[in-house]
Amino acid sequence: MSEVKLIAPSILSADFSKLGEEIKAVESGGADIIHLDIMDGRYVPNITIGPPVIESLRKLTDLPFDAHLMIVEPEKYVIDFINAGCNMISFHMDACIHSHRLVELIKKHGVKAGVVLNPATPVNTIEEIIHFVDYILVMSVNPGFGGQKFIPETLKKVKKIKKLMEEINRMDILIEIDGGIKESNISEVSAEGVNIFVAGSSVFRSENPAEAVKKLKQKATFIEV
Ligand code: DX5
Ligand code: ZN
Repeated sequence: MSEVKLIAPSILSADFSKLGEEIKAVESGGADIIHLDIMDGRYVPNITIGPPVIESLRKLTDLPFDAHLMIVEPEKYVIDFINAGCNMISFHMDACIHSHRLVELIKKHGVKAGVVLNPATPVNTIEEIIHFVDYILVMSVNPGFGGQKFIPETLKKVKKIKKLMEEINRMDILIEIDGGIKESNISEVSAEGVNIFVAGSSVFRSENPAEAVKKLKQKATFIEV
């Protein structure tokens, strides 16, 4: 089960003056999901976009929107992100006091709920919440910026998460990885059992974002390019 392999370009590295065109380009290359990095300048030292921008982008594509909330008190804003048209919402557990309540709130609205592990956050912190989530997001860089180097040690968490999934008989949970994913490492990452691959700079800073997505997808599914 769970041999799902999905490419989720992160628009963080896109040209913000032409987000619509950028999304269309990756869509034509076979992108499965659009990853939206939401930063508030408090949880991470950077500020990005919020619900009004997402609402505008929603009109341009039918691809699922995956909101990665790097904000404090995500419970205050989650409904706004749902109303803006997000289909998946993940949050950092250390940014929220009642994570179970928040996961249930997200799911109640028919939106997939995920929790995020920072590079230094151990897998055992999700031992209880894992029963309730649809996906786990493993950060392979420190959150806040695109274009950082993949931290190989973070990949070890994937095996541990898979083990937890087996223990609770929830092999349907998807594992997403975020940070430093590119053509040269995606096959190795995929082999560990990751399902969703976020890629920002390797897609939008390339000459041809559509082609970049296509190649990432081929490599994630082990088809030689
Ligand atoms: C970092 C973000 C990532 C980032 C990925 O805080 O969560 O989604 O945009 O960018 P790359 O692929 O360039 O590491
Ligand atoms: Zn992200």
